[in-house]
Amino acid sequence: MREYHLDLNNPEFVYDPYPLLAELRDTLPVFFDPVWDKVFFTRYEDIAALLRDRRLGRSILHVLSRDELGWPPPNPLTKDFDRFQDDHMLDNEPPKHPRLRSLMVKAFTSSRVDGLRAKIQEVVDELIDRVLDRGRMDLLKDFAEPIPVAVIAELLGVPEGDRHLLRPWSAKIVKLYELGYTDEQAKAANQAVVDFSAYLKDLARQRQKQPRDDLISALVRVEEQGQVLTMEELVANCILLLNAGHEATVNGTTLGMLSLHHNPDQMALAREAAQQNDLEFFKMATEELLRYDTPLPMFERWVLQDFDFSGVHLQRGMEVGLLYASGNRDPRRFADPDRLDLTRKDNPHLTFGLGIHYCIGAPLARIELQTSFATLLRRLPDIRVAREPVEYTGGFVIRGHEAMPVEF
Ligand code: HEM
Repeated sequence: MREYHLDLNNPEFVYDPYPLLAELRDTLPVFFDPVWDKVFFTRYEDIAALLRDRRLGRSILHVLSRDELGWPPPNPLTKDFDRFQDDHMLDNEPPKHPRLRSLMVKAFTSSRVDGLRAKIQEVVDELIDRVLDRGRMDLLKDFAEPIPVAVIAELLGVPEGDRHLLRPWSAKIVKLYELGYTDEQAKAANQAVVDFSAYLKDLARQRQKQPRDDLISALVRVEEQGQVLTMEELVANCILLLNAGHEATVNGTTLGMLSLHHNPDQMALAREAAQQNDLEFFKMATEELLRYDTPLPMFERWVLQDFDFSGVHLQRGMEVGLLYASGNRDPRRFADPDRLDLTRKDNPHLTFGLGIHYCIGAPLARIELQTSFATLLRRLPDIRVAREPVEYTGGFVIRGHEAMPVEF
């Protein structure tokens, strides 16, 4: 297999990964990276096929032991974080994964999600009301960040007064999903898991006594009825909902706005659709913005058994890096992929994944982003990014901005 080192944390790559990804798709569709010790795939067809292939999984410890993998003993600094990872659906494979996912899906119903549309509109409008007279804001802090927390808090049933606790917990926990982190970050993330879990257990106990129409109450009922969702699993999956849903939606908002800003013809089209309250347009446009600049550009999988694929031999215990952002710009699948076309119809992007781990929150994320873009452009039609270059937070895996000053 050909070798190449992809410097994922290089600020230039994080700023604009697309030219290098295009080069790799042409010259190195598959390569082994000796620094990350992973096999990377860059083409749409390979990534989509591998995501549906059960010979790969998001976890491996159900197949091989740490000794067999040659791993060091678990890091005591992340003891509680590791336990949380063991208990939530994203880091489990069958048979545990379908059990957890189906129980969560039972409570996280489409009517519960649809019912949030009005609340999301209210949150978005309130945030715009606050800045309307100022003529400027930080799109990240003043707009994008508060929305997913408010929505998840509403969904779970976290009382208003406690909502400020959620964002700092989430921000600390997700640091451990980057490739490479410090001991300080590990400690902070572990403590955040401990504190967040204690908070949610307490809330679940309250809801056990006095159920309400919220997700925690619905999950407590699932737990009580079947005895198949333990309190630890309930809590871990609620934390996952916040973490998984949070950063990506925030980053999807700022990345989307930047894409519009860089494509004035498409911005004009969106502005016009916003003035006409054309929700169907924003449904399509949101999909394109999510394809064009992918908020979560890469996910990994473990090889669970030996097999040959796309001309290379994948060995049990190897790790595979799937560059969704690259697949989303593959000209072998998308016509004119480097063009932002908000009216694109054939758009099976990889942004929410594929296969058994397909994003459970996609319907909710879509409503949040459609409402955000449509309302921003309707109420602040002159919105534009005030200063460039925009600063990125650092990592590639959760790719987002430090701030995004906008004027309107
Ligand atoms: C723009 C926003 C979002 C993006 C881009 C996104 C993307 C993804 C992707 C790519 C996966 C699959 C990971 C993999 O292939 O390894 C995933 C899984 C997941 N997402 Fe999202 N997501 C978003 C929003 C949300 C929201 C709002 C929620 C919750 C309310 C959420 C909850 C989850 C959960 C629980 C999983 C795990 C599903 C499983 O393992 O079966 N996501 N997401």
